[in-house]
Amino acid sequence: MRKTIPDFEKMKEIGEKISMLTAYDYPSAQLVEEAAVDIILVGDSLGMVVLGYESTVPVTMEEMLHHTKAVRRGAPQTFIVADMPFMSYATVDLAILNAGRLIKEGGADAVKLEGGVDIEPIVKTLTRAGIPVVGHIGLTPQTATQLGGFKVQGRDLESATRLVKDGSAIERAGAFMIVLEAIPRQVAAQISQELKIPTIGIGAGAECDGQVLVFHDILGLFKRFTPKFVKQYAELRAASVLAIKQYGEEVKSNLFPSDEHTFGLSDEVIQKLYGDK
Ligand code: KIV
Repeated sequence: MRKTIPDFEKMKEIGEKISMLTAYDYPSAQLVEEAAVDIILVGDSLGMVVLGYESTVPVTMEEMLHHTKAVRRGAPQTFIVADMPFMSYATVDLAILNAGRLIKEGGADAVKLEGGVDIEPIVKTLTRAGIPVVGHIGLTPQTATQLGGFKVQGRDLESATRLVKDGSAIERAGAFMIVLEAIPRQVAAQISQELKIPTIGIGAGAECDGQVLVFHDILGLFKRFTPKFVKQYAELRAASVLAIKQYGEEVKSNLFPSDEHTFGLSDEVIQKLYGDK
């Protein structure tokens, strides 16, 4: 059964942790749904782990829609959050248009936007229009250059205070959930305590109301870099290369295809077709 926003509110209330994992296509969505993870995030991290871009910045609305539709087909029973890509919510008008597309065309249940106090009016407009919004503060990859790179945020008094204000602004604007990325656990704990909406941490400690990680990271499928906060649960890259290598070698050595993977004709049809040749 697809969970709902009231279910997530209840989970926070009773202290049941919320699990969220990214997925980007039909097979990965099927796997995540089968594993009964509460929420699928179609993250714009797909730009890096699926499309091979250097960052999430080049990801387009068309790419997000394409992948969100495939994820919905693979996970019809799971609550899906789709990321709004960089510049797709630069103005209120753009935000309404693009968020509406991710819900109506993509089949997402909610959209996620990066930013705090600065995007409060945009989040307010979206939620008033009936679009469920997830916030994302701390390390915000779309604007990582402005933050001085992929660095932990909120380590000094000034930036920790700013993060708490950002969280409150996003809640005030009507978001029903917020992602906290790469911030000290004490700051995440304070935000999680102060906000009524569930917080989902990624590199933000165990006191958050839930956790999110990237599909390719937990399965060992992305090797360019691995942040400290990633826990790898399987090593599928090495296993995949091994299997593919074996396939290539078996083609070369004529071991594949064997009879088991080959279609044949009955002796009667062979006789009729070719006679005694
Ligand atoms: O794009 C993404 O996958 C994300 C998560 C890392 C939170 O935003």
